[in-house]
Amino acid sequence: MSAILAVRGLQKTFGSVVAARDINVAVPPLQTVGIIGANGAGKTTFVNMITGHLRPSKGTIVFCDRDITGRPSREITRLGIARSFQIPQIFQSLSVFENMCAATAIAHAAGGLPAQLLTPWRAPGSLRQAEAALELFRIARYRDTPAATLPQGVRKLLDIAMAVAGSPRLLLLDEPTSGITIEEKFELMDVVMSALKDRGITVLFVEHDMDIVARYADRVLAFYDGAVIADGSPAQALADPRIQELISGPQLKPATRSAGHA
Ligand SMILES: Nc1ncnc2c1ncn2[C@@H]1O[C@H](COP(=O)(O)OP(=O)(O)O)[C@@H](O)[C@H]1O
Ligand SMILES: [Mg+2]
Repeated sequence: MSAILAVRGLQKTFGSVVAARDINVAVPPLQTVGIIGANGAGKTTFVNMITGHLRPSKGTIVFCDRDITGRPSREITRLGIARSFQIPQIFQSLSVFENMCAATAIAHAAGGLPAQLLTPWRAPGSLRQAEAALELFRIARYRDTPAATLPQGVRKLLDIAMAVAGSPRLLLLDEPTSGITIEEKFELMDVVMSALKDRGITVLFVEHDMDIVARYADRVLAFYDGAVIADGSPAQALADPRIQELISGPQLKPATRSAGHA
C-alpha cells in the first residue's frame, strides 16, 4: 500500500455552492498534512467527507485500499479514521478521567451503538488505557477536574486524546489550535504531534497559523474556493504568491485614477 488515503475527483455541492471541486490527493502513511485556506474555502467539507459526516456529490475516497466513499461515519471510525472537531466534543459534566474512560470503552465496544451504550465505563482495561492516554497527552494532572471548568488548551488535548482512544491509523484535526494563545499553540502541538508519532498515526490538520503549519506539517494542501490550489512542502507553499495572498489577504490595488480626475 503506497497511500493510506487516496481521494479522487472529490466534489461536494450544496445547492449552487461548490464546496469541493475535483480534489485529488494521495497521502502516504505517517505523513503530517497541514490544510490551509480562508474561511469558506472548503477545508471542513473535505474533512467531513473523509470521516463520513458528509456524503460526496462525486468522486471516491479510498482508505487502506478500501473504498469508503459515502459510508456512515461510525463505520469509517471503526475502520480506523478518527477526528476532532473545531469545538471539542466532550461531556461537560464528567471529569477528565471519566471522559477518557467513556471514550475508551465506546471505542472498544464491538457491535455498534447498543453495545456501546451498555458497555461499562469502568471496565479494568478501559481504566488502564484511559490513565495511559492522559499521561501520553500530558493532562494527567487534570484527571479529576470537571470538563466544564478546563482551560481551553486542556479541553482541546482531551478531545484529541478521546479521538485517539480507538487507535486510529488516520486522524483528522479541524483547527486543533483555534481559540488558544500563540504560546499555548506550540505547546499543544508539541504534545499532540509527539503523541501521534508515538502511536504511528497519520495526521491531517486544518490550521490558519502558517508558523504552526511550517513547524509541524511535512506537506501543505492549500484550499481556495473548494479546490486544492497548492500541494507541496511548507517551504514551497510559503514561497507561492497565491498562498502569500491567502495568508495576508488580497493586497490593496494601487489607485488607478490620479487625484483631480473625475
Ligand atoms: N451544510 C452546509 N450547507 C450549505 N453550505 C455549506 C454547508 N457546509 C459548508 N457549506 C458551504 O461550503 C463552503 C465551504 O465551507 P467549509 O467547508 O465549512 O469551509 P472552511 O472549513 O474552509 O471554512 C462555504 O461556502 C460554506 O458556506
Ligand atoms: Mg472549517
